[in-house]
Amino acid sequence: MTNQANEPGCDETPDLAGKHVVLGLTGGIACYKSAELCRALIKAGASVQVVMTTAAEQFITPVTMQALSGRPVYTSQWDSREASSMAHINLSREADAIVIAPCSADFIAKLLHGRADDLLSLMCLARPIDKVPLLLAPAMNREMYAHPATQRNLAQLEADGATVLGVGTGFQACGETGDGRMLEPWQLVEDIIAFFASKVLAGQRVLVTAGPTYEAIDPVRGITNLSSGKMGFAIARAAREAGAEVTLIAGPVSLPTPRDVTRVDVISATNMLDAVMSRAQEAAIFIATAAVADWRPAAPSAEKIKKDGSRQAPQLQFTENADILATVARLAADHAGKPFCVGFAAESHNLHENAQAKRLRKNVPLLVGNIGPDTFGQDHNALLLVDAQGCTEVPRASKLSLARRLVQEIAMRMSAQDLAHQNVQEISSNNS
Ligand code: CTP
Repeated sequence: MTNQANEPGCDETPDLAGKHVVLGLTGGIACYKSAELCRALIKAGASVQVVMTTAAEQFITPVTMQALSGRPVYTSQWDSREASSMAHINLSREADAIVIAPCSADFIAKLLHGRADDLLSLMCLARPIDKVPLLLAPAMNREMYAHPATQRNLAQLEADGATVLGVGTGFQACGETGDGRMLEPWQLVEDIIAFFASKVLAGQRVLVTAGPTYEAIDPVRGITNLSSGKMGFAIARAAREAGAEVTLIAGPVSLPTPRDVTRVDVISATNMLDAVMSRAQEAAIFIATAAVADWRPAAPSAEKIKKDGSRQAPQLQFTENADILATVARLAADHAGKPFCVGFAAESHNLHENAQAKRLRKNVPLLVGNIGPDTFGQDHNALLLVDAQGCTEVPRASKLSLARRLVQEIAMRMSAQDLAHQNVQEISSNNS
């Protein structure tokens, strides 16, 4: 889920271009992941200054981190390279963020008390708190992580303005299994990118459908389509970056779940309808990217359909599936336009006419048109945004950057819609 490779003609600015990150390493076996994190941050466009504690040096050498970051590593406040002996001041003033990964239980306790007896803790204490955010990626044994002291310290650090990025669950270097692993480098990079994103959907609940559906013919066969789910997953990620609480209803696809997104896996259109309708009323926005099967076999066989030797093909009867988008749009029509519904249309020709006709037929404020064969399975696409005002072309780009643009467009239209509803309410209350 990191940056998609640029396609010829689609040169995109890396997500962290122009950002300077101070990457702090404290003592823990997860230091081996910090090497990859450093590379991933640089690949995402950031410049990285590594600062290590003495304990971190027991796990990975400054030489490794220097080679990966392309800058000498700082390990001591007495570093003679600093003419003024003010490394803690100079390094923190240049940073757009300080990321401590791994952040040990001991270092968390130290930060909590505002102690400053090594360069990294000194730098955290000396940073301008309102200008240089502090992001922590804890890493420790599960018992240490669950200990009330650690939990209390993390809660207090958040209250003091730090951002705690969470931990992973699973097999730990000590041989135990549980919470406390450092998040994987790609997860941390996704969180850091999200941290810097503008929060145009702060606190909004967003429901997204993605991928194909699978309609069973018998226990081993079914009807599906070539949708990869990539666009819907990119939209879920972009909405989360914009501060939304996102639920992603996914048909059968094998894509990793974007960070901090609640995923509900479904198989058939009927499952997808149920999963959507049980959540639609609470959602502020519904984005239907799924390629839902229009038809399903009317009576799927409980047993595998065998050849009977007659050379006659089996006769399948079909039933129409409910239109999920149109069903949610009907709900919205009764609830002052909530959720704000966004449809997708994968067409093969006459994109403008077909997309506008589909928007009106489904009664949604915004429909996103694209050419089906150009998008299925691809990392890049071009979009046509169709609303009551007309059509806007969005040129070919990665699905993630299209998703981010779409999120901005939705936020703009929602504010306009909310304003229009407010005006209508004011006029009707003035008239009564
Ligand atoms: N959609 C849906 N439920 C369905 C069919 C479609 O929610 N049963 C949604 C899709 O997720 C998409 C939009 O409706 O947002 C348009 O889907 P599309 O397959 O392009 O349109 P159809 O209504 O199936 O029309 P047609 O196949 O005739 O082009």
